[in-house]
Amino acid sequence: MTEATDAMLQNWHTLAKDGRPLDINEAMMHLTLEIVGKTLFSIDLTREADTVGEAFSVVNEEIARLTSIPFANIGLKIPFLPGTRRINKNTAILTQVVHGIIQERRQSGLETEDLLGMLMAARDEDSGEGMSDQQLHDEVMTIMLAGHETTAVALAWTFYLLSEHPAVRAELEAEVDGVLNSRLPTIDDIPNLPYTTMVLEESMRLYPPAYTIARWGNEEDEVGGYYVPKNSVITTSPYITHRHPEFWDDPERFDPQRFTPERKAERPRYAYLPFGGGPRICIGNSFAMTEATLLLASIVQRYRLALVPGTRVALEPLITLRPKGHLMMTLTSR
Ligand code: HEM
Repeated sequence: MTEATDAMLQNWHTLAKDGRPLDINEAMMHLTLEIVGKTLFSIDLTREADTVGEAFSVVNEEIARLTSIPFANIGLKIPFLPGTRRINKNTAILTQVVHGIIQERRQSGLETEDLLGMLMAARDEDSGEGMSDQQLHDEVMTIMLAGHETTAVALAWTFYLLSEHPAVRAELEAEVDGVLNSRLPTIDDIPNLPYTTMVLEESMRLYPPAYTIARWGNEEDEVGGYYVPKNSVITTSPYITHRHPEFWDDPERFDPQRFTPERKAERPRYAYLPFGGGPRICIGNSFAMTEATLLLASIVQRYRLALVPGTRVALEPLITLRPKGHLMMTLTSR
């Protein structure tokens, strides 16, 4: 994770020198995709970053648009509708990338002990059978997409918030400088970077990448006093819960001190749920927090990021909560 970040930071040198801004959301997308490729599939996905980014954006936009209108599930089955056509075309592009990852491993004949190797070696406890090609494809696709965009968006919002809150940024820089003393962080440094973690937690409170979590009602039910007919879609919103005045004082204010162990213990457990909860809680929770902490500390140590004056920052709530348009920031070497 830090190797890939280090390489990115070397490239930032010229941007900083020339005063050229960069789109921080796009930069984080590239970096986290590269990290998923290297750490989980032992493959270099840097060449595919733009293709995956563009195709996934289109699928993201079209699905978000379709699910906001009635009968969307019927629309998805009509292949000649323009939205469905765009989804199918771009899903095919993503499928090509996933096939490439699996093919490359099969052809190499290597038995690498990474996540891909584990998925390929997995056997059903009862039948003894391995995964079908389709199952393997779906697992790799899920990990590739769920495993990079969420963390990238969390980091992009964090840099935006830090740019708007110089006092928090100064405290973060002091912690990072004191602990790391100019070297790259390792996993052993994480317990010594509590404020870095608190900044990320507070950022995901205000901008939870997974801002809604939906469930399909297999049976009729009653939830919170409301009758829920069978086959309903029920949506909870971490975005709303995270800003609910019943659980949070002055909820719109960015304040990492809300995440000291004492203050966390005072709140109901599900007042904060960026990774969901229950049996389907995010499987990549620890991976994501480790990655986000290492990346934030590595970047803050070397550069100070500032939002380009006049940039209009708005939400783009698709499948994840993205910043709308480009989030342009300038870099100053520290
Ligand atoms: C900041 C980063 C991340 C956030 C905010 C996030 C958020 C979530 C949430 C809210 C869920 C639950 C969805 C539901 O209940 O319907 C979820 C599920 C999942 N996440 Fe993440 N995630 C992040 C990073 C990751 C990473 C890095 C990976 C993989 C390496 C990953 C893989 C998954 C998978 C496979 C599921 C489905 C789990 C299941 O259904 O059993 N996520 N994520």
